Amino acid sequence: MQTHLLFFYCYIGLSLVFSEGAQTLLNDELSTLISIKSSLIDPLDYLKDWQMPSKAVENGSTHCNWTGVWCNSRGLVEKLDLSNMNLSGSVSDNMQGLHSLSSLNICCNGFASSLPKSLSNLTSLKSIDVSQNNFIGSFPTGLGSASGLTLVNASSNNFSGLLPEDLGNATSLETLDLRGSFLEGSIPASFLNLQKLKFLGLSGNNFTGKIPRELGKLSSLETIILGYNDFEGEIPAELGNLIKLQYLDLAVGRPLPINLGRKSPLQWLDVSSNSLSGEIPPGLCDSGNLTKLILFNNSFSGPIPIGLSTCKSLVRVRMQNNHISGTIPVGLGYIPILQRLELANNNLTGQIPEDIALSTSLSFIDVSSNHLESSLPYNILSIPNLQSFIASNNNLDGNIPDQLQDCSSLSLLDLSNNHISGKIPESIASCEKLVNLNLRNNQLTGEIPKAISTMPTLAILDLSNNSLIGQIPENFGSSPALEMVNLSFNKLEGPVPSNGMLMTMNPNDLMGNAGLCGGILPPCSQNYAAPKGQLQKMHIKHIIIGFIIGISTIFFLGIAFFTGRWLYRRWYLCNSFFEDLFKQSNELWPWRLVAFQRVSFTSSDILACIKESNIIGMGGTGVVYKAEIHRPHVVVAVKKLWRSGSDIENGDDLLGEVNLLGRLRHRNIVRVLGYIHNETDIMMAYDEKTDIYSFGVVLLELLTGKMPLDPSFGESIDIVEWFQRKIRKNRPLDEALDPSIAGECKHVQEEMLLVLQIALLCTAKLPRDRPSMRDIITMLGEAKPRRKSICHNGVNNGRKEKPIFSTSPIIGLL
Ligand SMILES: *[C@@H]1O[C@H](CO)[C@@H](O)[C@H](O)[C@H]1NC(C)=O
Ligand SMILES: *[C@@H]1O[C@H](CO)[C@@H](O)[C@H](O)[C@H]1NC(C)=O
Ligand SMILES: *[C@@H]1O[C@H](CO)[C@@H](O)[C@H](O)[C@H]1NC(C)=O
Ligand SMILES: *[C@@H]1O[C@H](CO)[C@@H](O)[C@H](O)[C@H]1NC(C)=O
Ligand SMILES: *[C@@H]1O[C@H](CO)[C@@H](O)[C@H](O)[C@H]1NC(C)=O
Ligand SMILES: *[C@@H]1O[C@H](CO)[C@@H](O)[C@H](O)[C@H]1NC(C)=O
Ligand SMILES: *[C@@H]1O[C@H](CO)[C@@H](O)[C@H](O)[C@H]1NC(C)=O
Ligand SMILES: *[C@@H]1O[C@H](CO)[C@@H](O)[C@H](O)[C@H]1NC(C)=O
Ligand SMILES: *[C@@H]1O[C@H](CO)[C@@H](O)[C@H](O)[C@H]1NC(C)=O
Ligand SMILES: *[C@@H]1O[C@H](CO)[C@@H](O)[C@H](O)[C@H]1NC(C)=O
Ligand SMILES: *[C@@H]1O[C@H](CO)[C@@H](O)[C@H](O)[C@H]1NC(C)=O
Ligand SMILES: *[C@@H]1O[C@H](CO)[C@@H](O)[C@H](O)[C@H]1NC(C)=O
Repeated sequence: MQTHLLFFYCYIGLSLVFSEGAQTLLNDELSTLISIKSSLIDPLDYLKDWQMPSKAVENGSTHCNWTGVWCNSRGLVEKLDLSNMNLSGSVSDNMQGLHSLSSLNICCNGFASSLPKSLSNLTSLKSIDVSQNNFIGSFPTGLGSASGLTLVNASSNNFSGLLPEDLGNATSLETLDLRGSFLEGSIPASFLNLQKLKFLGLSGNNFTGKIPRELGKLSSLETIILGYNDFEGEIPAELGNLIKLQYLDLAVGRPLPINLGRKSPLQWLDVSSNSLSGEIPPGLCDSGNLTKLILFNNSFSGPIPIGLSTCKSLVRVRMQNNHISGTIPVGLGYIPILQRLELANNNLTGQIPEDIALSTSLSFIDVSSNHLESSLPYNILSIPNLQSFIASNNNLDGNIPDQLQDCSSLSLLDLSNNHISGKIPESIASCEKLVNLNLRNNQLTGEIPKAISTMPTLAILDLSNNSLIGQIPENFGSSPALEMVNLSFNKLEGPVPSNGMLMTMNPNDLMGNAGLCGGILPPCSQNYAAPKGQLQKMHIKHIIIGFIIGISTIFFLGIAFFTGRWLYRRWYLCNSFFEDLFKQSNELWPWRLVAFQRVSFTSSDILACIKESNIIGMGGTGVVYKAEIHRPHVVVAVKKLWRSGSDIENGDDLLGEVNLLGRLRHRNIVRVLGYIHNETDIMMAYDEKTDIYSFGVVLLELLTGKMPLDPSFGESIDIVEWFQRKIRKNRPLDEALDPSIAGECKHVQEEMLLVLQIALLCTAKLPRDRPSMRDIITMLGEAKPRRKSICHNGVNNGRKEKPIFSTSPIIGLL
């Protein structure tokens, strides 16, 4: 009896203690949250509902209802999501009081403190995301004891010190993203326990030492991103054993593992801009999955592996700037989806294989600066989608292919510095989209085809240093789009026509033609031998032509005036002109995607989202669509702008893109400035903040005429840093502008200065200081010039003031 009684009392006592304990625990969590809040700076008051409740309301789980707080069924906090709230201050040590916390997300805030060590007491953690802050100090050790930990994302911070070794104990870990901090030391041996790891991102730190060969045993790895560190030594051959590897981005070592790709379904290999040498591994496409092979700017030697000409999955091959030798393998033309073939600046010999001309997919071919010889395949310029063909600086001979009737997309043809002979085929004029034709330094003979002057988009024509004869065609100067022409060092003769751009061009571009005279050159001498009898005929012809030109000028001026007035009204008053134009031209101007940095989606992903229901904005700058891409999940704004024929292709990376821009600078000034005025077809997919920086770099490059890593800046100074220094030294900004764009034209300079300011905002160091794309578009809109096309400010120093918008569809419409 006594024992029973005792037992009974005990029972009551215990249960009292227990229920009290549970209540205290809940209250503890509430006050823990309150104390966490007290160490935060919350300028936008996101956490305003984190308040001590009045006794009447409080029933133990009030806090489960707070912003960013989720509780489990027992009323304990299991998830805290305080991402994107512009929070700063510090993360409280009291966080460790949330014993059941399994998911902590404080990404994308402004924390600039250190992360407390006590986080290691959160042993229930499964996922921790502290990315995109400015956290300093070391990444806390001890998280490895959270045995259920699957995700650690600490990318884009200012962490320093070593990688915590104990993370190797978190054997459930699938994602480890520590990209973009100042971490140093080597990859700890303990990481070799991470058998479930799929994503390893360590790029953009100060890691050193060798890449451990045991990484090749982490058989779940799908993505390895280690670039932009100071790793040394070889790339371990064992990486070739990773059967799930899909994405490899390294920046280290000398040769690539020779069996890379043999066992793994490698889809994307980017090792550009390293110091890699040795041969290209022959088995990269053995599993038939390789789409992008990006090897440019290395020291690869040896031949292009035969295996690539049978790799049906290839979309891009970018191998420029290496020491690759041998011939271009036969069969690349049979790859059904190959779009880009970039082999420039290598040691290739032999001829361009005939089969390349049979491709139906290639849009960009660059084989310049090699030792290629013999003649071009006769039908190479008829590849249906070919936009750019660059074969300059080789030993090519033979004639220019005459099969030009079908060059429907060609916009750039560069055959300069070869031994090409024969005539310029008259049929070149059927290349309706040709913008840039460069045939300089060849052995061309015959006359300049008259039809060249009718080409609707031809803007740049370089025929210098050939053996062309005859006269400059009469209507040459009035070619619709011509901006730059160089005819120097030929055997041309006769009077230079006095019309259009032939009156404003630089006389140097005509020099070296002993027989030319008149026009902008010194007048023809009296006894210039216009063959007898012809003189009078010519006189009559001139009168007739003059009459016709006069009448048509009046006629066109009339039309231009009315069309202009109509356009002006629609554009300024209704702002719907572009909507209409867009509707009409939807089919006419093909889509093209320009990515200013590596993006994780393809143009077809984007195109699938381009439909009326996704329109989120429309106006002066074009139509903006929302594009939601599911794997990986990203939301981007896509803008459709005007005009077609861009040479910029889906870029793999900024540098590659910028190289391309550098080469086509002249045209792209037109385009990027055109972008400002809504008149290009450049479609940009942007991912707020990250792409904005790259966009700013491109703007800087175009405005200053410098390359991003121009040697004149000095060691390891890029264009952004160079510019920041100018500003710190209070240098006038306009001295940095490229004088060849604006010349003395004040309006253009003014506009360029405005755009320069925008570029500076875009390249702010901290992502959060960069403007949003929406702001950029507004600012670009405000950087409107006062003139629409040619600048008239009375300066005529022989320099042609470039009609920056002369190729715009609007001018075309007039
Ligand atoms: C507290 O009250 C809310 C409704 O006000 C209810 O949903 C919740 O279950 C209650 N919690 C407890 C522990 O009683
Ligand atoms: C939770 O919040 C909602 C509105 O935010 C409110 O209507 C509800 O009463 C709250 N519940 C508790 C238990 O505080
Ligand atoms: C976010 O916080 C920073 C300072 O940390 C501040 O400069 C910025 O204006 C804030 N953003 C907003 C939208 O308030
Ligand atoms: C983080 O690093 C950036 C880049 O070096 C620097 O500008 C910034 O001041 C750093 N922030 C902190 C809080 O250390
Ligand atoms: C973890 O919690 C224990 C017990 O509360 C405490 O003694 C220890 O200091 C905590 N660890 C850290 C790193 O704060
Ligand atoms: C880590 O977070 C950043 C930004 O917060 C994000 O861009 C990145 O994709 C995340 N990493 C992984 C592997 O999901
Ligand atoms: C990993 O866990 C084991 C056992 O719990 C422990 O002995 C070891 O110290 C841990 N390793 C690290 C690097 O913390
Ligand atoms: C880390 O790398 C940056 C840039 O490469 C360099 O400026 C810095 O000195 C390095 N820090 C350490 C600790 O090595
Ligand atoms: C090429 O790679 C070297 C390092 O090997 C790098 O310094 C250089 O900037 C790269 N150039 C381009 C244009 O990518
Ligand atoms: C690789 O290609 C094969 C056959 O083309 C396909 O079955 C497989 O799913 C691909 N693997 C990946 C990871 O895409
Ligand atoms: C180019 O290839 C030839 C042999 O075909 C070789 O003699 C030469 O050294 C190579 N040049 C370079 C720069 O690799
Ligand atoms: C013109 O071409 C010849 C070879 O065809 C070359 O030797 C010469 O340097 C070139 N001249 C100029 C000015 O480019």
